[in-house]
Amino acid sequence: MADEWKPQILAIICNWCSYAGAYLAGGARIQYPPTVRAIRVMCTGRVDMLFILKAFVEGADGVLVSGCHFGDCHYLEGNYKAAKRMFMIKNLLRNIGLDDRRFRMTFVSASEGAKWGMVMEDVTNTIKELGPSPIKEFKK
Ligand code: FES
Repeated sequence: MADEWKPQILAIICNWCSYAGAYLAGGARIQYPPTVRAIRVMCTGRVDMLFILKAFVEGADGVLVSGCHFGDCHYLEGNYKAAKRMFMIKNLLRNIGLDDRRFRMTFVSASEGAKWGMVMEDVTNTIKELGPSPIKEFKK
């Protein structure tokens, strides 16, 4: 259907694990929905809460942060720090009236191309269920 709504999802992914996992998925021709635009950062520890809020304000229907598994972060504790922040972000989203399922953090390693594809499917399905972000509607 030509007019079907397609979610706009931002993925902020770490260079060393999730970016490499996404690259592997591409190389292995693993199919997943074209709803996600990725921004690469060196580590999820670099992801500021403001990046996520700005993404929603700029029109994202969902935001994903994905990095190395615990114990694999190339900067040792970056993903632990990010995970702590992610709880705060979910809380903040609830407080401003956004469903916190619009945001999630995942852990995908460089060898998990298939998992990357599954995460993309799952995130897209969740956002499709929730529909367009209410912030978009508010800005009209
Ligand atoms: Fe991947 Fe830190 S380098 S999460």
